[in-house]
Amino acid sequence: MRKIKIGLAGLGTVGKGVYEILQKDAKLISQRTKHQLELVAVSSRSKKDFIDETKIKFYADAVDLARDPEIDVVIEVIGGNAVAKEIFETAIKNGKKIVTANKSLIAENGFELAELVEKYNSYIAFEAAVAAAIPIVKIFRESFSSSKIESFAAILNGSCNFILTKMQQENLTFDEAQKQAQDLGYLEADPSFDIKGIDTAHKLAILSAIACGSRPAFEQTHIEGIENISIEDINLAFELGYKIKLLAIYKNHGPSIEQAVYPALIKSSEKIAQVDDSFNAILTKASNADWNFICGRGAGSLETASAVVSDLIDIANDRHSFMFGVENKNLIDVKIENISQRFGQYFLKLIVNKSLAQKTDLSQKIFGEKIKIEKAIFFDANEEILCGFITQVLQESDLLEIMKNLDSNLVRSAKFLRVENSNPL
Ligand SMILES: NC(=O)c1ccc[n+]([C@@H]2O[C@H](COP(=O)([O-])OP(=O)(O)OC[C@H]3O[C@@H](n4cnc5c(N)ncnc54)[C@H](OP(=O)(O)O)[C@@H]3O)[C@@H](O)[C@H]2O)c1
Repeated sequence: MRKIKIGLAGLGTVGKGVYEILQKDAKLISQRTKHQLELVAVSSRSKKDFIDETKIKFYADAVDLARDPEIDVVIEVIGGNAVAKEIFETAIKNGKKIVTANKSLIAENGFELAELVEKYNSYIAFEAAVAAAIPIVKIFRESFSSSKIESFAAILNGSCNFILTKMQQENLTFDEAQKQAQDLGYLEADPSFDIKGIDTAHKLAILSAIACGSRPAFEQTHIEGIENISIEDINLAFELGYKIKLLAIYKNHGPSIEQAVYPALIKSSEKIAQVDDSFNAILTKASNADWNFICGRGAGSLETASAVVSDLIDIANDRHSFMFGVENKNLIDVKIENISQRFGQYFLKLIVNKSLAQKTDLSQKIFGEKIKIEKAIFFDANEEILCGFITQVLQESDLLEIMKNLDSNLVRSAKFLRVENSNPL
C-alpha cells in the first residue's frame, strides 16, 4: 500500500468540508481505497486555525502548491478561471492529478484541459462541479454509457430553486425571496452568476458535452435567468396547473441539439416540478435506460466535499474515464440550435384593455387563428383584464412574430415563458 499525498487548494465552504471528511471519515475511506490518502499541504489567502501547520504545509500561493514535488493529487476548490487555470496547468505539467468542483473552468476550458491531460497522462475529476452530491457525471459517463442520452431537463441551481419556491409558497416578491436566500448563505455577495442562469449554463455545458460526446460548448448556450420572474407570473402559472422552475434543457435532435437555460412552466403534477427549496434534480431520457430521475443536494459544504472525496477515492483506486465520455480525438463540435427554432408550448401573460375585450372570445380577438389556445384564465382588475394562456405547440419564431404585431390598443403588455412537458414520470 503506497501513500497518495494530497494538496488542498482552497479552504472555504468546500475546502473546509473536504478537510473535515478526510479527518472524520478516515477509517471508512481507508477501507475503500487501495492506497492510503494523506493531506500534506493546503493553500488559501488567509491562514486557518483548524489547520495544524506542524503536520500540514501552508502555501500562500496555490500555484506553488501545484508545483510541490511531494504532492500526487491537487484538489482545487478555489473557483473562478484565472488562478485555477494556472493551478491546473502547473499541476498537470508536474505529473499530478486533479480533483475539482470548478464548473466555470471545466465548461469554458474543458477541452483545452482534456488535451493537456492526455499529453501528460494526467487526470481531472470533476463530479462536484455539476450537482455536488448528486453523482450525475458518473451516471451520464459510466452508468448510461451503453445508451444514447436523448434528452434531459435539470434543476441545477439550488439558490434559484429556493427563490422560486419561496415566491410560490410564501407569496414573496423576487427581492424578498432573494434576500432570504442571501441571509441563509445560499447566494454569493454578487448573486448575478446564479440569478442570471450562468452557473446553470456552466453545469449544462458539462453535462451536455458528456451526453453527446462533444467539446463543452458554453458560449453558444441560450441563457435566461429568473430575474424577471414576478409573483404574478408564478401565481398565474399555478392557477393554470403549473410551477415555474429554472431549467437546464438538452434535447438531441440528431445533427443538432437544443442546449438552453430558461425559467419554464412544468405541470405541477410532474416529479421535477415537485423538487422545491434548494434541491437539485435531473430527469433523463436515455435510449436503453428509458426515463430516470435523480434528486438531491446540489451545494453545501459536506455535500460538495462528499463528491470531491469520492473522486479522490476513485483516483486512489485507479478508476479513470475519458473526461467527456469519449476519447478526445472523437469529441465532436456540436451544433446548438437557435432558440427561435424551438417547437413547444408557451405560457402567455397579457394585460388587455377591458373596454375593448369580451372574455368569451378574447383569445380569438387577440390572436385570430394564428395561435391555438389549450388553456386560459382571466382575472378582472379595474380597467384591465389579466390573462394567462397556455398555447398548443408552435415554433418560437412564429410566436415572436405574432407577439410583435399584437393590437396595442387592446393588449397593454405581453410576456411569454416556455412550457416543458416532456416526460411520463
Ligand atoms: N459552495 C458550494 O456549495 C459549492 C457547490 C458546488 C461547487 N462549488 C465550487 O467549489 C469551488 C469553491 O467554492 P467555495 O464555495 O468553497 O468558495 P469559497 O467559500 O469562496 O472558498 C474559496 C477558497 O479559496 C481561497 N482562495 C481564493 N483565492 C485564492 C488564491 N488566489 N490562492 C489561494 N487560495 C485562494 C479562499 O481563501 P480565503 O479563505 O483565505 O479567502 C477560500 O479558502 C468553486 O469553484 C465553486 O463553484 C461550490
